[in-house]
Amino acid sequence: MDVFTEVIQNMDITSLFVFCVVFLLCYYALKKTNNIPTGPVSVPLLGNIPQLAGRNPLIMFRKWRKQYGDVFSVYMGSQLLIVLNGYETINEALVTRANVFSERPHNFMLDKIKEGEGVIFASGTSWKRQKKIALHCLQELGFGCNSFEVCIADEAKTLIKQIEQNADVSLNLKDILTTCVSNVMCGILFGRRFSHEDNKFLEVVANFSEDAKYLGNASILMNCFPFLQYLPGDLLRTKTIMEHKKVFHKFYEDLYQSHQLTLDENNPRDFMDLYLIEMKKNSTLSKKEENTYSEVKLKALVGDLFGAGTETTSTTLLWAVQYLLHYPDVQEKCFDEIQTVLGLERFPSLNDRSHLPYCEATILETLRIAAIAPLAVPHATPRDVYFQGFIIPKESSILINLHSIFHDSDIFKDPGVFRPERFFYSSGHVIKPKEFIPFSCGRRVCIGEKVAQMELFIFLTSLIQTFKFLPVDSCNLPDLEGNLGIVYSPKSFQVKIFRRQDVKSY
Ligand code: HEM
Repeated sequence: MDVFTEVIQNMDITSLFVFCVVFLLCYYALKKTNNIPTGPVSVPLLGNIPQLAGRNPLIMFRKWRKQYGDVFSVYMGSQLLIVLNGYETINEALVTRANVFSERPHNFMLDKIKEGEGVIFASGTSWKRQKKIALHCLQELGFGCNSFEVCIADEAKTLIKQIEQNADVSLNLKDILTTCVSNVMCGILFGRRFSHEDNKFLEVVANFSEDAKYLGNASILMNCFPFLQYLPGDLLRTKTIMEHKKVFHKFYEDLYQSHQLTLDENNPRDFMDLYLIEMKKNSTLSKKEENTYSEVKLKALVGDLFGAGTETTSTTLLWAVQYLLHYPDVQEKCFDEIQTVLGLERFPSLNDRSHLPYCEATILETLRIAAIAPLAVPHATPRDVYFQGFIIPKESSILINLHSIFHDSDIFKDPGVFRPERFFYSSGHVIKPKEFIPFSCGRRVCIGEKVAQMELFIFLTSLIQTFKFLPVDSCNLPDLEGNLGIVYSPKSFQVKIFRRQDVKSY
């Protein structure tokens, strides 16, 4: 037994009380002199978990921003989180000070899953190289040209067919929507789509959705209390998440093998082909570029793009449908615009975007109000950094509170109201204020912004052109407060869907 433990054990209750008070005072005094941003009072060991447990962190952060300003600290256990709020502060960190605010923090759980590979959770040279490769391959495949559009339109048509089979009944759109959106990613990554009856594929898609729901909380708690991994059972679903990783690897492995066998270097079909071609070229280059391409890196990159590209876009579409139920006038205005410009027969194309400004503004308003990635992905600094008069310690996780921008009434008047018109210029053109950054900004900006915007446009306009969405119970609309995981998703809801051509008047 060490001396410290012996002293504690021999203390009477009064001395122990005095010791605890002195300990806490020293702890807070030290925090203050360290010049770490202030924040809500935290309790030893648990930090601010008691204040956050069971509550929506976004609402708590709004309250704390009013009290402590745009830069405040929160403790999850002993782990320090720095929360950056408001456009000016976020822009200063991610853009002006991009050289120091573009790392990712170490996270016990994510390190275990990602092993430092991929792009989303990687840092340093490895991240820079993989991001460059990913962007290069996506550009080669034709960002903005019609190979992506064909792929997206095919999936939107499949979605419409699937819904038609179930029209006139109440439907939860989540699964079919997620499957169609993930098939777009499969088209880009693997050059093929999967049937909605393919159980292996459905399992992979469902696993990614489940992980997105639990990974956020699980990784934060595991990081604070690593001993939780040894508890029996699977309280934090960490074992399930690791099992899901194995299922994805098996799914991926088959695709990797078939790509290896059928690769034609003069005719790349998809992202995987392009990566394999670069990998081959690279193997003959100098040692300097040695670790840029590998099978392991490709697997991690594909996993990242598949996950990031599916949950975000499908969740945005689900929110859009939910807001259309709450704001039927917006749904009708979108429909009227589509009917005037396209009619009911011609399928929307990306060339129609500038002719459908109200639909375009409805998509932007959904991205704003629902704030799909409200805290972006945690950032970190490579060393202690002096920022706005505070020290941001190297080991802290930095949360980018994008939600605080989109719900700032000084930027977006009546932020809780769903009003696409706010994105209109007086001339009727769509205009995005500089503060509108749902894909974040700076070096870590989302890779998939262009793909996502194409998908949102084609899926949403074709859905509104074909169907009318109505609530199952007009006196009891689906809850607009969502669940925060890796993304902010709506709670499960049902919707009644009617074919426009069958609708006379409602
Ligand atoms: C509505 C759809 C989407 C939204 C709102 C969204 C938003 C975001 C946000 C906020 C970040 C974090 C940036 C940061 O850390 O500061 C991010 C990162 C990322 N997104 Fe997206 N995203 C969407 C769709 C996509 C798609 C379709 C793809 C893939 C094609 C994708 C791939 C990525 C990747 C790879 C990163 C990591 C970038 C890095 O760490 O450098 N996202 N996204």
